[in-house]
Amino acid sequence: MMTSNEAIVPLAEDAFWQSPYPILSRLRDEHRTAVTDAGVKAILRWDDAEEVLKGGDFINEGLEFIEARGFSPGDPLYEWRRHSIGALNGAPHDRIRSLVSRALTHRSVDALRPSIRAHTRALISACAEAGRMDARADLALRLPFLTITEFLGIDRDEGAEVGKRMSSGAADAFGPNVTPEIRQQANETFAALMAFVSDLVEKRRVKPREDLLSDLIRVEEAGDRLSQEELIVLFTNIFGGAIETTASVLTSGVMLLAQNPEQAERLRRDPDRFKQGAAEETLRLRPGFYAVGKKAARSVEAAGLRFDEGEPLTILVGGPNRDPSRWLKPDAFEIGRDPKVWSLTFSMGAHFCLGQALARCELQEMMGTLVTCCRELELEVDPPRWLARVMVNRVESLPVRFHHCEEALSHG
Ligand code: HEM
Repeated sequence: MMTSNEAIVPLAEDAFWQSPYPILSRLRDEHRTAVTDAGVKAILRWDDAEEVLKGGDFINEGLEFIEARGFSPGDPLYEWRRHSIGALNGAPHDRIRSLVSRALTHRSVDALRPSIRAHTRALISACAEAGRMDARADLALRLPFLTITEFLGIDRDEGAEVGKRMSSGAADAFGPNVTPEIRQQANETFAALMAFVSDLVEKRRVKPREDLLSDLIRVEEAGDRLSQEELIVLFTNIFGGAIETTASVLTSGVMLLAQNPEQAERLRRDPDRFKQGAAEETLRLRPGFYAVGKKAARSVEAAGLRFDEGEPLTILVGGPNRDPSRWLKPDAFEIGRDPKVWSLTFSMGAHFCLGQALARCELQEMMGTLVTCCRELELEVDPPRWLARVMVNRVESLPVRFHHCEEALSHG
């Protein structure tokens, strides 16, 4: 129940999505917590967010999270979520997570750096003659697909169809505004994704390769640590989780470099020194999604509020990520900051993002390559228009003009 003294986060208003950060900063400076206009208690400050995520009193929401969005048993997305790592807690979560994190850390993301740079150069060069590109469609959506297929050992033609689906708004089903159309699209996408991965499992079972899926199949075949259903959902978590969020952040990386030419110049002069800082600043300022949701594991007090067992809570990432208690001049894109001071963008604690090293690597290499291949990067529409009330923050398009630098291309 809201009272008139409460700070309200206006999620229903388009203006919030076009420019959320001044609103979140004002709320965070004036209030310790807020309430969304849907009545969910919201965390705004760094210290409170850290305590909630690391403390163990809050856990991930399970099936109730998608029931509240209109999904029911039998829906492909509902059945997928039953085994999804993001919906599990405690021992079942830890068992699956330890299997996959072991398999993931065996594969060095650093080995992918040269090919991420080569893909970035090729994607930009395809637009060079025109001197303009849509940074979302022509670069940011393509690069994560090329990278994740290479990382997972999926042949490009094997995954192309389903990859396209994963980047067309399937994540909206987890957002604050799920319409019947979004539900239908998400169910179709998840049905296609699960069918694709089931086929792939059968192919790799017959003919194993040196890839992550074959490793996971060996674990499944070895005994009772991973069921076939869990294996399929786990692989979709990795493949599906890799595209849309990464594309959103890559788009923002282009946007921030175009909006801050002096920082772009600094990066161009010494990409190896500054590419980490440029990536961390992008992740901090434009986290790619608006919130991390949790629920109280028990009746508990946090951030000065009382929570009943099972009560949801939302951490509005844009609040803690620009908290002046952690960053000086927090709204500035400043690539010289210490890149080891991480933001909340990949969450923390038990569900800390399993793909963060890969996403960071893509962003660093894309930004470092972009500034060496392109001069005078300029947004055609500034600020761009953001889609309202969606889980993964994204612009429909990001048209940019640039001068192409042939020399960097031939040497880079
Ligand atoms: C910039 C891009 C990305 C962002 C912003 C992002 C963000 C997140 C966040 C916030 C969580 C945890 C939410 C929570 O606390 O419950 C998460 C979990 C996860 N992410 Fe990412 N992610 C990104 C890229 C990736 C990539 C590239 C992969 C795969 C290679 C991936 C795979 C996963 C998986 C499997 C989990 C579930 C971990 C668990 O529940 O234990 N993510 N991600």
